[in-house]
Amino acid sequence: MTVLVVATSNPGKLREMQSYLTDSNWELQLKPSELEIEETGDTFAANACLKASEVAKATGEWAIADDSGLQVDALNGVPGIYSARYGKTDKARIERLLRELGEEKNREAQFVCVVAIARPNGEIALQAEGICRGTILSSPRGNGGFGYDPIFYVPEQQLTFAEMEPEMKRRYSHRGKAFALLLPQLS
Ligand code: IMP
Repeated sequence: MTVLVVATSNPGKLREMQSYLTDSNWELQLKPSELEIEETGDTFAANACLKASEVAKATGEWAIADDSGLQVDALNGVPGIYSARYGKTDKARIERLLRELGEEKNREAQFVCVVAIARPNGEIALQAEGICRGTILSSPRGNGGFGYDPIFYVPEQQLTFAEMEPEMKRRYSHRGKAFALLLPQLS
C-alpha cells in the first residue's frame, strides 16, 4: 500500500477525511505536527493545492489536503477562505458570524470544499470541489460535527450539520461531495 499523508491539523476535518478514506487502497499517515503550512492563497483551490504540495515535498510521500469554508451571501461571501481565522475558537467564530449577520433576513449561505492530492514531488495529481447550500440559523442547534456545523441548516433535511449522523453529513456536505468525485479516481 502506498502512503498518503493527511495534511490537516483540524481534528474535525481529520476525523471526516480519515473516515472517507478508510476503504481506499492507501496507508494513511498523519501530517507531522511541527509542519504548519501558511495559507497564502486567495482561493480554496489555491490553498488546498499549496497545503497538499508542501506537505508532499516535506515528507516525500503522496499528500491530501482540503481547504474549506463558509460563504454567507448577505456578507458577500465572508468569512470564506478566512473561516478558520474568523475567531479564536469555534464558539467565538459562530458568535462573530451571528453578530455580523444580525437581523438580516437573507440567511442563505454555502459551504465550499476543495480537496487536492499531490505526488511526492509536490505536483498536483487530482483535485475536486464540493458545495453545499444552506441557511444560517439565529442560534446553534445540535452537538455533532465541528466548526460552524451547529448554525448551518440544510432545508431539504430540516437539520443542521451538527444534528446529522456522520453518514448523512457525508452525503450532503461539501466535503462529502468533493470526496465522492475524488475517490473513484484515487483508487
Ligand atoms: P481551513 O480549510 O483549514 O482554512 O479551515 C476551514 C474552516 O472552515 C474550519 O476551521 C471551520 O471553521 C470551517 N469549516 C470547514 N468545513 C466545515 C464543516 O464541515 N463544518 C463546519 N465548519 C467547517
